[in-house]
Amino acid sequence: MPTLDQYLTAHAAQFEAELCDFLRIPSVSADPAHKNDVENAAQWVDAKFRKMGFSSEIIPTSGNPLIYAQSPEVPGAPTVLVYGHYDVQPADPLELWTSPPFEPTRRDGNLFARGATDDKGQVLTHINSAQAWLDVHGRLPVRLKFLIEGEEEVGSQGAEEYLAANASRLACDCVVISDGCKFSRDIPSITYGLRGIAYYEIRVTGPNRDLHSGSFGGSVTNPATTVARILSAMIDRHGKIQIPGFYDDVVPLTERERQQFAALPFDEAKYFAELGVERAFGEEGYSALERRWARPTYDVCGLWGGYQGEGAKTVLPGKAGAKFSFRLVPNQSPEKITAALARWLPEITPPGAKVELLDFHGSPGVTIPLESRYVAAAARALEQAFGCAPVYSREGGSIPIVGKFHEALHADVLLLGWGQDDDNAHSPNEKFSLADYHCGIKASARLWEELGKLA
Ligand code: BES
Ligand code: MN
Ligand code: MN
Repeated sequence: MPTLDQYLTAHAAQFEAELCDFLRIPSVSADPAHKNDVENAAQWVDAKFRKMGFSSEIIPTSGNPLIYAQSPEVPGAPTVLVYGHYDVQPADPLELWTSPPFEPTRRDGNLFARGATDDKGQVLTHINSAQAWLDVHGRLPVRLKFLIEGEEEVGSQGAEEYLAANASRLACDCVVISDGCKFSRDIPSITYGLRGIAYYEIRVTGPNRDLHSGSFGGSVTNPATTVARILSAMIDRHGKIQIPGFYDDVVPLTERERQQFAALPFDEAKYFAELGVERAFGEEGYSALERRWARPTYDVCGLWGGYQGEGAKTVLPGKAGAKFSFRLVPNQSPEKITAALARWLPEITPPGAKVELLDFHGSPGVTIPLESRYVAAAARALEQAFGCAPVYSREGGSIPIVGKFHEALHADVLLLGWGQDDDNAHSPNEKFSLADYHCGIKASARLWEELGKLA
């Protein structure tokens, strides 16, 4: 009988081929044109679980389907709920991809495709490690339940509704999520905080049609100028968000946590150099890690209006708009931010412009206590798999459902990212390093073992 490590080595090519199959399905949740692809991805995941001998079902929701799969109970061992998502972000702008986003391509030890790191590759690490345990030992050391959803990238509404109504079915001792990054190339991390988010679009209208900007300009409101004015009113030169009351519920960073962040092996100069920016920018008085992990921030994610083609066109556009979001820290409520924004918007809107505010999705930030035996078991597993003890870090991104796991299941969440900061999640040329993929499978296999030792 092979050892588990021998099995993983022998099956490396098969694991890679399966990930490629999964990545070929363009399951973009934001775009209704991909409804069928989303469906196909759900079926792919369900079929994979059935092949492994898990009981699995596709569950319809108000939005995209969920897959729920489970293995038999293991008496005396914990039950672990693995959560992940099979939906992906839109691949645009397509022209910036070196190889097509849904034709997984190997280059320099990486697999390039939309969803490679976020989150299909990371989801498959946990499925493959379970498969390995079953094939090598004929059993799993813990009971595994899997909840894999198709709307994480658009706010997780269906999964949250299902969780609220099916807490007993999903009951578990801890939740495991791999949908993020290691601390750096070779240092694994246990993530104990995520930011929340509040995401909006504004649609601005002025005159009832596009106008000659010479004949009419200066006499009526210009929607594009209005968009620029509103967007820039949101933040001042010192990086402070200007919505009245925005910071009311923000929990300040403690001196202790600031020291812990500062003690992490993070090289700011290297970070900015890799991103191609000459110097830091952000809220005054905070380090880059503090700004990314533990301070609320504001980003414009898209804006449009007026002439976008070659050369100059003198036009006063009748319409313009923008998409923007606030990243929130724990204790800030997205609903309160929406109310404060809606109240303030008329004050910063110039006369004659009409502004419609669309509220897309919101979720609160979370922090997770580290004093748990599950965290300790995860730390042991990561150290065995990566040959390096994990650091404890927060992340700037959001996973909307995480806070709900604690509420509904009273279970702590282990956030164990296998990706890298430079994996280009949400960007062109998204990738997952094949080494990270295989290490993730190994770490996951060790995790089941370590969690299984907890009676
Ligand atoms: N996997 C990310 C979240 C993430 C990013 C965690 C980086 C840790 C590090 C997730 O798929 C994601 O992108 N979430 C969205 C949520 C939103 C659309 C509601 C995000 O953060 O933008
Ligand atoms: Mn993700
Ligand atoms: Mn994502």
